[in-house]
Amino acid sequence: MAKILVTGGAGYIGSHTTVELISKGYTVLIADNLSNSSADVVDSIEKITGVRPLFEQIDLSDKTQATQLFDRHPDIVAVINFAAYKAVGESVSEPLKYYNNNLSIVFNVLSNMERLGIKNFVQSSSCTVYGEPDTLPISEQSPLKPAVSPYGNTKKIVEEILADCAKQDKVHAIALRYFNPIGAHPSGLIGELPRGVPNNLMPFITQTAIGIRQQLSVFGNDYDTPDGTCIRDFIHVVDLAKSHVVAVERLLNGKGKAAFEVFNIGTGNGFSVMEVIKSFEKMSGVKLNYRIAGRREGDIVKIWADTTLSNKELGWKAQQTLDDMTRDAWNWELKLKERK
Ligand code: NAD
Ligand code: WQD
Repeated sequence: MAKILVTGGAGYIGSHTTVELISKGYTVLIADNLSNSSADVVDSIEKITGVRPLFEQIDLSDKTQATQLFDRHPDIVAVINFAAYKAVGESVSEPLKYYNNNLSIVFNVLSNMERLGIKNFVQSSSCTVYGEPDTLPISEQSPLKPAVSPYGNTKKIVEEILADCAKQDKVHAIALRYFNPIGAHPSGLIGELPRGVPNNLMPFITQTAIGIRQQLSVFGNDYDTPDGTCIRDFIHVVDLAKSHVVAVERLLNGKGKAAFEVFNIGTGNGFSVMEVIKSFEKMSGVKLNYRIAGRREGDIVKIWADTTLSNKELGWKAQQTLDDMTRDAWNWELKLKERK
């Protein structure tokens, strides 16, 4: 079966996508420098699927390493690009680290694709490109706002690079703008592995519940929302992973309506921080230790996706509920503890 290069495939979303691609019969080549992941993930993917993905530990921001990778695998038919640094706060303090890594990966991959005549490219983009929405739900046609962080800016810049390359028919690309992925594979074998103190809500909740963190701070309950806490479009990582399979198949089958397309990948529903906590407590049976703290600087108040376009054009729709997400996130945290 066709060989797909999954950059950053040992990471959170890339590993779940690899599982879905293998289950559809694709040959997956993971290229990852393990800067934010571990080689065990390859074993876990094999345990889940019965098939071991190809794996190369390389730094894709290095031109020579990227070129050698493509030379070893001239039969790649498509690339799904997850590889990037993603810590928003660190990108503010270390902007060059983020611009260098996240953009060099794209330059190196796209230039090798052009060299070898490989056209199909799926990019991990983010709802962060919208900033604070003027209208909700937010559709792909909504204007983009100036990025609040260098990380967010790399997502906007990569979309612009893809649009320019697509105009010259150098690439056929799809950017998937993810909303807030949470949860884990139901096996509990793969999931999110934050290094150090988590920035994101869900891993902070599960780490607090299991005793790694003492208390969750809820960043503000005086926002203009029904319960005063911020609202996000949380999406189960397995639903998100499946959207990559349909996106790459759209490219492989030449079904795209333009050489560069953009799709929102969310559920279309917003849930507040307090609703996530309540769902987590219900599904885990654990009473969470949390307190209301001050607002976090730079937080978007409320955002959720208009998924009309992805539902119609990709024929994809998120299936899993918030309770499914919090249940699987907790199962993953429990399994991680067992493994230690
Ligand atoms: P992750 O950190 O778990 O996965 C990224 C992987 O890329 C890691 O395994 C890391 O080791 C690898 N990597 C980083 N730089 C590399 C390099 N130079 N060479 C090779 N490998 C490299 O992150 P994730 O949550 O799975 O995110 C995947 C993608 O989705 C990223 O591009 C991220 O910006 C984007 N995204 C994530 C979220 C989210 O909330 N998790 C939301 C929107 C978009
Ligand atoms: C969600 C809500 C917090 C932690 C980030 C990135 C964004 C995108 C997704 C990649 C907010 C609140 C959080 C905590 C809390 N990633 N919260 N206590 O802010 O939507 O976005 O991840 O592209 O670029 O910025 O997600 O999980 O950090 O926060 O109260 O300890 O949970 O204030 O309202 P966010 P998040």
